[in-house]
Amino acid sequence: MHDTGEWQALSAHQEALDGQHLRDLFDQDPSRGERLVAETDGLLLDYSKSRLTDETVALLAALADRAHLRRRIEALVSGKPVNATENRPAWHIALRRPDPPPEVREELDRMAAFATEARNRRWQAVVNIGIGGSDLGPAMATAALESFAHPDLDMRFLSNVDGAHFRAVTRGLDPARTLFIVVSKTFSTIETLTNARTARAWVAQAVGIQEAGTHFAAVTASPGKAQEFGIDTGAVFAMWDWVGGRYSLGSAVGLSLMIALGPDGFAELLAGMHHIDEHFRTAPWAENLPALLGLIGVWNRNFWDWPTYAVLPYSQALALFPAYIQQLDMESSGKSVRADGTPVRYPTGPVVWGQPGTNGQHAFHQLLHQGTDIVPVDFIGFCRPNHELAEHHDLLMANLFAQAEALAFGAPDSGDPHRHLPGNRPSSIILGYQLTPRSLGQLVALYEHKVFTQATVWGINPFDQWGVELGKALATGIAGELADTAEPNPTRDSSTRSLIDRYVGTRRQ
Ligand code: F6P
Repeated sequence: MHDTGEWQALSAHQEALDGQHLRDLFDQDPSRGERLVAETDGLLLDYSKSRLTDETVALLAALADRAHLRRRIEALVSGKPVNATENRPAWHIALRRPDPPPEVREELDRMAAFATEARNRRWQAVVNIGIGGSDLGPAMATAALESFAHPDLDMRFLSNVDGAHFRAVTRGLDPARTLFIVVSKTFSTIETLTNARTARAWVAQAVGIQEAGTHFAAVTASPGKAQEFGIDTGAVFAMWDWVGGRYSLGSAVGLSLMIALGPDGFAELLAGMHHIDEHFRTAPWAENLPALLGLIGVWNRNFWDWPTYAVLPYSQALALFPAYIQQLDMESSGKSVRADGTPVRYPTGPVVWGQPGTNGQHAFHQLLHQGTDIVPVDFIGFCRPNHELAEHHDLLMANLFAQAEALAFGAPDSGDPHRHLPGNRPSSIILGYQLTPRSLGQLVALYEHKVFTQATVWGINPFDQWGVELGKALATGIAGELADTAEPNPTRDSSTRSLIDRYVGTRRQ
């Protein structure tokens, strides 16, 4: 891609823009703040504070065409095997169609029946056990939509194999009134299975081993393994190999969320996702929110060479959203070879990080304003709060607008270098009407397709994650070596071997 005319044109254009401050861009073109925006279904993207012009957008659109983005979207939407290294579709879009495939409809109906029963039954708590894509989506969305959730159900999420997490998540819960949902596409993830076994023993202690099974449901693409674990077929929900973990919120992986919101609330989330799916498929690039966000991602990463970007929701309810986007983007975009196996000749996925404003302002914004690295920011905010504390909300949003303004324009030079804020630091602002199941669905799909847009330009496969396998295999081997009776493994490197020796010699003293 880097040797195409479209890429070269963008490189030359970046050099020409390099000397220009965002202040100059706004001075020369005072209406850019009204023009460099895109909107769909109440969701606004203002990208006027990015380091670009109309010409940049046109050149990026040409790059998207060169990368055949439209054709790739059609392949994604129609369930073609876009996940080439695993030879299967990544068909999450089918999960949220108003007319989903029959097997999806059937599973949604089963989920609705199960969720309705769980909401009516006197469970004290529902605990989702899963990790990565089997945790972050429902955990993030359940926290985000707490104001729409069942008032008497305590929703909890257990992911880390650290026993402290099990203790913290089950603290205060009555095992006799707790429902566990074990979510694992493979049903072989060691953290999830360890937590599930501990949970089963915890419940069995209170209600007996026979009864304990009725406290468990599972979501998996390996139903046989869930049944072996002792979960009744009627409580095992399907995932398909064509749903990637980090793209799975709209599948049965969202069962805990459906229990919290009720089936209608979950349907709203799916409708929001579907709206963005259709928008991504049909809108011209210059009006297409996910495509714009993805192309700006490429612009920032490859042409300005900025290695990280921050996602900063000005919404406490979205506290887990940066972590969710971090997995979505970094597990998808952390690739060094193209889909055909040849090495990429340009940087791919940036490091994604963030936390909610205004807290971050009192932690890392100093570096954003005056550090030597430029960090592009996505600010996310809403016009209407989900509470009645209007004054708080005005102040929250005033801070969002102020931060974007300070980053872009800085402060006039007072002569004191320590107090100088240079500005010229880019951001995009995503402004929604209100945080609801529908708008959260929009946001999730917006970022999914942003990541897809970037991957398409880079020519990488965003749907596999081979890089995480080695660590899993090594951990399984090392876990065996930690057994009391195990012999030391002489083939380990000297660092790992001494660390294991020290650990084993010290742990139970
Ligand atoms: O971290 C690797 C990973 O495979 C993720 O992609 C996935 O979401 C997570 O582990 C959990 O996998 P599973 O749902 O199979 O337990």
